[in-house]
Amino acid sequence: MTQLGHFDLIARFYDRVFRFPGPERLMNLLQARPSERILDIGGGTGRVSQTFGGDYVVIVCDPSWHMLQEARRKCIIVCGCLAEHLPFAEGAFDRIVVVDAFHHLHDQHAAVEEMLRVLRPGGRLVVEEPDIRRWPVKLVALGERLLLMRSRFYSIADLGRVFEGAGARIVAAEEEHDLNVRLAVEKKRDGGR
Ligand SMILES: C[S@@+](CC[C@H](N)C(=O)[O-])C[C@H]1O[C@@H](n2cnc3c(N)ncnc32)[C@H](O)[C@@H]1O
Repeated sequence: MTQLGHFDLIARFYDRVFRFPGPERLMNLLQARPSERILDIGGGTGRVSQTFGGDYVVIVCDPSWHMLQEARRKCIIVCGCLAEHLPFAEGAFDRIVVVDAFHHLHDQHAAVEEMLRVLRPGGRLVVEEPDIRRWPVKLVALGERLLLMRSRFYSIADLGRVFEGAGARIVAAEEEHDLNVRLAVEKKRDGGR
C-alpha cells in the first residue's frame, strides 16, 4: 500500500484520533496578518487549518482525495497535489504551514524548493514535526515503518540545514515545549539565493 492509501483509509476517523491541541504556537511563529494567503501543505482533513479562524485565505493541499474530502466538509478550499509539484505561481502565498507532514514527503528536498518557490519574498513558512528524540515519537515512527510508510524524520538542526541550503533564512526554532519541533523560516527578499 502507498502512503496515500494509508491516509485514504484513516481519513474518516483522523480528526477524532489525532486531536490538534491548538494553533497558538504555530500562529505565533507564522505571524500572519488578516487577509493574507496561507497554504497548508499536506494539510489533510483541514484539522489544523480549521483552527485559523476566518481572517485569512487558506488553501489545504494534499494528494489524498479522502483526506481532502474531510477538509471540504469543513468548507475549506482544497487542492489535490503533491508538495513536490505545487500547481501555483511563484510567490503566490504570504504564509505556508506544514504540520506533521514533512516526514511523509517522498522527495523532501524537491518539496522544499517548491515551497520556497510559491512563497513570496519576505513571506514566512513554519514546519511543525514530531520530535524524533522523544520516545512516544520513536514508537510512532516504528509503527509507521511496520506499516511500510516511508517516513523520514529530521532533527530540527537538519531541517534547518535543508531550508538554509535552499536559500531560506531561519527566524525561529523551537524544540522544548511538547512532542513537536517547530521551525520558522523566511524567504529572502532577493528571492532566496
Ligand atoms: C499525518 S497527516 C497530517 C495532516 C495535517 N497536516 C494535520 O496535521 O492534520 C500527513 C499528510 O501528508 C500528506 N502527504 C503525504 N505525502 C505527501 C506529499 N508528497 N505531498 C503533500 N502531502 C503529502 C498525507 O496525504 C497526509 O494527509
